[in-house]
Parts: sequence; structure tokens; C-alpha cells
Amino acid sequence: MKALTYHGSKDVRVESVPDPTLIDDDDIILRVTSTAICGSDLHIYRGKIPAMEHGDILGHEFMGVVEAAGPAVTHLKRGDRVVIPFTIACGDCFFCTQDLFAACENTNSGRGAIINKKQTRPGAGLFGYSHLYGGYPGGQAEYVRVPKANVGPLVIPDSALSDDQVLFLSDILPTGYQAVVNGAVGQGSSVAIFGAGPVGLMAAASARMLGAERIFMVDHHQYRLDFAAATYGVEPINFDENDDPAEIIIERTDGRGVDASIDAVGFEAKGSTTETVLTAIKLEGSSGQSLRQAMAATRRGGVVSVPGVYAGWIHGFLFGDAFEKGLTFKGGQTHAQHWMPELLDRISNGDLKPEVIVTHHMSLDDAARGYQIFNDKQEDCRKVVLTPGLVAPASNTATTGQQPLPQLL
Ligand SMILES: NC(=O)c1ccc[n+]([C@@H]2O[C@H](COP(=O)([O-])OP(=O)(O)OC[C@H]3O[C@@H](n4cnc5c(N)ncnc54)[C@H](O)[C@@H]3O)[C@@H](O)[C@H]2O)c1
Ligand SMILES: [Zn+2]
Ligand SMILES: [Zn+2]
Repeated sequence: MKALTYHGSKDVRVESVPDPTLIDDDDIILRVTSTAICGSDLHIYRGKIPAMEHGDILGHEFMGVVEAAGPAVTHLKRGDRVVIPFTIACGDCFFCTQDLFAACENTNSGRGAIINKKQTRPGAGLFGYSHLYGGYPGGQAEYVRVPKANVGPLVIPDSALSDDQVLFLSDILPTGYQAVVNGAVGQGSSVAIFGAGPVGLMAAASARMLGAERIFMVDHHQYRLDFAAATYGVEPINFDENDDPAEIIIERTDGRGVDASIDAVGFEAKGSTTETVLTAIKLEGSSGQSLRQAMAATRRGGVVSVPGVYAGWIHGFLFGDAFEKGLTFKGGQTHAQHWMPELLDRISNGDLKPEVIVTHHMSLDDAARGYQIFNDKQEDCRKVVLTPGLVAPASNTATTGQQPLPQLL
């Protein structure tokens, strides 16, 4: 089969690899119908995630049709159309029974990324996300083996829902939603979202749905901010024009700050030259720029919710400020399985339309170019969806959100 494989920084290739096979009794083999590129894949693409090996298959946002099922699969049958959560969870460990699926103790043979780990077991294995997270082959492929198939896959019974409408249940929609719920955002809340990428946009959609009154959004890609302003009514702040967005947010909230801030950027945040340089020579673990801004923009007693990925340490982490303001922090990998059913209902009844963020539909064959376009923010790219075997228009292999969507199933 064909799959998108990793060979080093900015070097990903679509290659022929062996087809996956059933290994455990509760595995399925999925024929992938749609798969997306995530901002988390860009950390790998830029060579920032350790424990990647040549030929590893990437991709953790995917859906498709059950091609084969092991004898212990009770929840699914061949032919079912399913969306797969990016976290692989056993369903019955200490954490899974509390719906903390990303903390599952039974699915990761890697070590995870904690530096001061002691004897703790690693959190859940992830598809296509390095040998720190179990080395599971990902779903940017024609076929993928899905372990723990009685726990993860969500059946989409309504064939009227297109792949684009439900694909983001695999990751970015639950991630944006969990970030907003963690921020205790509700009717009348004020919230500042740092990062207008797919996760920030899903957070904005979720905050709007839950009744937030004011949503500030910070980025430096004006086209992303313009889309968020037009679609979700956010108040955009471009940090290339105003290098202290938190100050502006405080000014506009009566000198107080917002109820919650969401850091949908993570450890590669731009805007601090010192940290960018120190990180490049490994004297700093992460850029703290977005996190510092999020903390500064949040009112006393508010919440800083962090879906953006962090790893290692940050020197410029002003914990005294957090203490003085009485901030609550919440974050981590998303417990996708927990949120997927209720979010499918929200899509079905029209409360959420995650598909509107898609700008690029490309064939899986063109996945390497998709990575480059998404990474370099070319062609006003917001989100790339890859379809195995998609026959592209002759003149342009990418279709934009303004054009009618191709028939994906
Ligand atoms: N917690 C989870 O389970 C989970 C799931 C999916 C993605 N993520 C993470 O969420 C983050 C965002 O993902 P994405 O798909 O939206 O990625 P993306 O790279 O498309 O978007 C990130 C955006 O942040 C902006 N940005 C950079 N520096 C900034 C700064 N200082 N202030 C404000 N904005 C800044 C960039 O311009 C970009 O538009 C990534 O770190 C990704 O790994 C986490
Ligand atoms: Zn992701
Ligand atoms: Zn578990």
C-alpha cells in the first residue's frame, strides 16, 4: 500500500510499504477514506520530536471503513464507517475507567516525554507519533491497523454526513472543545485564544457554541485571523502589529483580563527571538511566549487552558505571576474518546460545522506537498485533507474551501 513516511526534518515521502495485518484479537484493519495533517504533525515535520525512525508512517487524524476485524472485536463489523481517535486506549485501566483516555496505562511501550518521570508509566500510545508514544504506524496511508477497536472507533451511522464533516472528531474538534471546557468557558464568558490554527479555530467554534460573549484571537497570519473574525466573530489581534497582545486584551477588558485563555500554539511559539535562538541550540526546551501571553491576559482566579503541545522545560515561566493571580492550569493530550459522541450529535444537529476550516483537498499521493503548504502557510492554508486515490482536477491538485467539495465517498 501507499503511506506517508518520515525520513528526517522536512523530508516526508509517499512510499510503497507492506499492508498492515491484524496482530491482536481486538484489532481492526481500516481502509482510510480521509486523513488530515495536524499542527502536531508539523512538530515532527520540523524535526522537533525525538525517537522518530526512518520510514515511520505519520498521521493520527483519519477515518474510513472497517476492512477486517479480529475475533475479539464485538463493537464493529466489516463495512462499518468509523472515525478513529488519535489516542489509543484500553478502556479498562485506572485512567480509562475515569474517561482519562490519553492517560491510558496499557497502550504505550515507549517512555513518553516526561523528563522527571520517576517510576510513572507513560500515557497512552498515539498513532503516528514517534516511538516515545508506542511507534504505532499512522493513518496517512491507504490502510492502517487500529488496536483496541472496541474502545476507540466511533461509528458514523448517518451516511448523509460527509467525511469532511466528521473527520475532525479524531482530534482537533475534541481538542478545541476540551480546551474550552477546561477553561470553564460558558454563557457570557470572555476568552482569549492564542493561535488561529485548526485547534484555535475549533476552540473558537466551541466557545461561540457554548455562549462566550467575547473571544479574542491572537496570531500573526492575518488570513487566519480574518477567517476567524468572519466565521466565529472573534476580535483579532495580529502580534506582528502589536507585540504585546495581552496588554491590548487587558485594556479592552476594563484592566482585568479575560476569564480564560487558551494556548493553542505550544512549544514552537513565535515572537521571542531569545527563546527561538536558545531552543535551536538546545539551551532552552520550549518557547514560553504564548504561555506567558496567555497567563498575562487572564484575570485573577481565571484559567489557562493549554491544548498546545509542550515538552521539556521553559526558563521564562513566571510561576510567581500564576500564584499571585491565583490561576488554574489545565492541559494535556485530549481524551478524545470521551468527547466524540456528544460532538457527533453537535455536528448532526448543525451546532458545529468543523468542515468549514478545510482549504485543501489533496490526494494522499501529494501528501508531501500538503505538509509543505500547511507548514509554510502557503495558499492561505488552514487545513489539508488527504484522500487515498483522489483524482485531482488537471490544472490544480488542491481544491480550496471556496470551491465545491469533491465527492469523498
Ligand atoms: N492537546 C492535544 O491533544 C493536541 C491535539 C492537536 C493539536 N495539538 C497542538 O495544538 C497546537 C496547535 O495546532 P494547530 O493544528 O492549530 O497548528 P498550527 O501550527 O496550524 O497553528 C498554530 C498557530 O499558532 C500561531 N502562533 C505562533 N506563535 C504564536 C504566538 N506567539 N501567539 C499566538 N499565535 C502564535 C501560528 O502562526 C499558527 O497559526 C500544536 O502545538 C499542536 O501540536 C494538541
Ligand atoms: Zn493532532
Ligand atoms: Zn487504559
